[in-house]
Amino acid sequence: MSSTEHLADGESRLNIHTLIEADARTGFAADVRRGLRSQPKRLFPKYFYDTLGSVLFDAICLLPEYYLTRAEDEIFATSADEIVAAAVAATTAAVATGGSEQDAPLTLLELGSGSAAKTRQLIEALLRRQDELLYVPIDISAPALETSARVLLQSYPALRIEGYASDYDTALAHLCHSAGGKVEGSGGGRTLALFLGSNVGNFELDEAEKFLRALRGCLGAGDALLLGVDLKKSRIVLEAAYDDALGVTAAFNLNLLARINREFGADFDLRQFHHVAFYNELAGRVEIYLESLREQVVRLPALDLEVSFAAGERVHTEHSHKYDLAELDALAARTGFTRTRTWTDQAGLFSSNLFSTAAPSGF
Ligand code: TRP
Repeated sequence: MSSTEHLADGESRLNIHTLIEADARTGFAADVRRGLRSQPKRLFPKYFYDTLGSVLFDAICLLPEYYLTRAEDEIFATSADEIVAAAVAATTAAVATGGSEQDAPLTLLELGSGSAAKTRQLIEALLRRQDELLYVPIDISAPALETSARVLLQSYPALRIEGYASDYDTALAHLCHSAGGKVEGSGGGRTLALFLGSNVGNFELDEAEKFLRALRGCLGAGDALLLGVDLKKSRIVLEAAYDDALGVTAAFNLNLLARINREFGADFDLRQFHHVAFYNELAGRVEIYLESLREQVVRLPALDLEVSFAAGERVHTEHSHKYDLAELDALAARTGFTRTRTWTDQAGLFSSNLFSTAAPSGF
């Protein structure tokens, strides 16, 4: 299913394509069924982001303990112009000189754009270098995508948006004509892809590799990727970031059960589950679970399913992997990228990494 929307001003600076399958509910149902029947139980993190979940995630980004968003904001506030200049340099260095392509404006592609609050600084930096900008945000939450797009268009008259309400795989498959192809709508110019926050950390290591390879296949020689990566650090800082004092992260995690109640008429008693987050230092990741506080049976009538939980049994909902720069270089090398530059916040908590496509494609 694909739908397109235009702004009322007739200028059609906004197109939103809905690629979320017509049977999204069926996919969600199948994943919930499979996840709750498997041992150990698990639920996929992409289902966190319904309307309430997206709002709760925005609230997480405001928490004092969740340093990631502020650190990335600080990097962009300090270095957006430098980042954009480096991206332009990376993109022009890789194409033959003298071509007209390098003069074409850069297109900004963002995976998991959410509220796109941090993106504003990069948009502004790009608009200081070029007259117009095509922004291509992809987000699983259609309401978050639409709201953020409308707000951005009001701020920036020189912006045009082609948004995709979609999961990453579907959007990438749709956007990329072929390996080494161009992002649709980029008009033959270069693309700067953004994968911000700790998004890449939510993949398992092999999945991150698979995803970056797919993205690399979607980018041409001379395109670049700005990759947000949370760095390894002390357990105390990490565990507070994923288990805040106000309980917003707990609410965000528990909302997954609330969503299953809403959409499938299930009877999860949210007070009988609690949020668990700890740093598994050996694996280099924060592990997040919903733990059953007692032995209980939950009914999911719309799925014709009953699920038993033992006291203390955990449902895995998310991993958030932390990297160091050496691991990042290895990841880049395995996926056809080169890490050409890294910016960090003053405290050295978080990194923004420019990955160029200088390495030969064909990965
Ligand atoms: N991408 C975010 C991260 O890994 C997502 C996130 C933040 C998250 N807090 C969470 C996911 C708590 C699950 C539970 O930092």
